[in-house]
Amino acid sequence: MTFNCLLYPFSVLLISYSVLAQCLKPHEEIQRSAFPNDFFFGAATSSYQVEGAYLQDGKGLSNWDVFTKIPGKIEDNANGDVADDHYNLYLEDIELMHSLGIRGYRFSISWSRILPDGMLGTPNPSGITFYNKLINHLVSKGIEPFVTIHHTDLPYMLEARDGGWLSPLLREEFAHFATICFKNFGDRVRYWVTINEPNLIADLAYIRGIFPPARCSPPFGNCSTGNSDVEPLIAMHNMLIAHGMAVDIYRSLFWPKQQGFIGIVSSAFMYEPLRDEERDRLAADRALAFNVAWMLDPLIYGDYPAEMRQCHGLALPKFSANEKRLLRGSIDFIGVNHYSTLYVKDCINSTCPSGGDRPIRGFLNTTSYRDGVPIGEPTGTSYLFVVPRGMEEIIDYLKRRYHNVPMFVTENGYTLPAQQNELQDMGRINFHKAYLVSLARAIRKGANVRGYFIWSLMDNFEWLSGYTSRFGLYYVDRQTLERTPKLSAKWFASFLKNNTHNEKEESSAAASSVQG
Ligand code: NOJ
Repeated sequence: MTFNCLLYPFSVLLISYSVLAQCLKPHEEIQRSAFPNDFFFGAATSSYQVEGAYLQDGKGLSNWDVFTKIPGKIEDNANGDVADDHYNLYLEDIELMHSLGIRGYRFSISWSRILPDGMLGTPNPSGITFYNKLINHLVSKGIEPFVTIHHTDLPYMLEARDGGWLSPLLREEFAHFATICFKNFGDRVRYWVTINEPNLIADLAYIRGIFPPARCSPPFGNCSTGNSDVEPLIAMHNMLIAHGMAVDIYRSLFWPKQQGFIGIVSSAFMYEPLRDEERDRLAADRALAFNVAWMLDPLIYGDYPAEMRQCHGLALPKFSANEKRLLRGSIDFIGVNHYSTLYVKDCINSTCPSGGDRPIRGFLNTTSYRDGVPIGEPTGTSYLFVVPRGMEEIIDYLKRRYHNVPMFVTENGYTLPAQQNELQDMGRINFHKAYLVSLARAIRKGANVRGYFIWSLMDNFEWLSGYTSRFGLYYVDRQTLERTPKLSAKWFASFLKNNTHNEKEESSAAASSVQG
């Protein structure tokens, strides 16, 4: 797509709207057999969200250990000090995975457990021991470890001393941490993700300033310091180069023996035009470019999307020739975290509040409502609605833009609307069924998707929402930490066994729960 920020074409083309009107049939059934035999079904978590044990066995403080202690930042002032105590209960949790019958477990490594103070500190042997035990036990149960090196939490020192991802120092720091991971775990880990959702981190931490280090400027937020127009671009630049350095180390030093696959995970909302107008269709394209292609184009093509360069001009950092070489082709797969779809309104030729008129937002605004009607059935999370067609559409987009590079859906998940019985979670079952139907359709059309991970294995610390937002297949009692399978865990287990256990009962109880 070519787009010129200054010369926006006004012509309204007669492009059919029918694609957008396509809906899934409600309650379409899905079978395991709709996916290839070697397809990877799994469940996902991340270190800060489940591990707890925040100071156990030599772990250092992470940015989230510190941020959550600032009153008012997190719902109920909750924190991950204990979380699900997965650090101590991992054996029990692997039993849960085993009983689900999943083939992969996606988890992340706590950077501050391995390097309490970053690379200038001493590595913590107990941290290495913990992940070795976790990985060994997974492997002994036939569960493939799918390991994210960095998922949001980093040693607090790297934020306090170096400024977090705003600093180019983080590139070396990350490469060093990744090297330790490859060296110690790479003989058993075949799937590596360098960084989880750099695009969402750039947004939440440096545009809106609601994640640490809480930097932003008006109109995006009221932080004590920061620059929402520029800093996210710098943070992303550093994350991408850090990724490239880690991949280079992996491929040159470890791959010859270990022969694994290395990729990155993108937050991947799908976008649809708010109005049936060309300007909103172009804005929806732009939303994909300014969110998803922002992080993926450099890793496939060696540079940022042209439309971003046109809009940001000199504010968008440049890659040197060497950096371009480092980045181009630096992923074996794309990890896709897909939950929902948003409407997009153009802000070049319409007045938009709250930053929609700024390049960092791609001159657009997003919303979940058209004429007061939500884009899909509501969930328990205010910005996530059930829009199963979005799965097929985002996969199609990535397939087209990146020549069908292998993809994994590394996260897809659901929270029940308030007041519903958490254990009888028909809404979650119907959500996953509908999204899987949509994914299967994309695969039938030729998309190179290799796996699907449910977020999450169990209820956990959901960042700003603390423990009020439950994404798990297993319910976790906050007093006792006891794990109880929800109906969705039973459904997932029977789906994976390819039988239709309880399907009829579940579908009728679920009537009207999920629409396409
Ligand atoms: C994406 C993030 O990777 C994960 O940490 C988070 O909990 C889920 N989305 C749900 O919001």
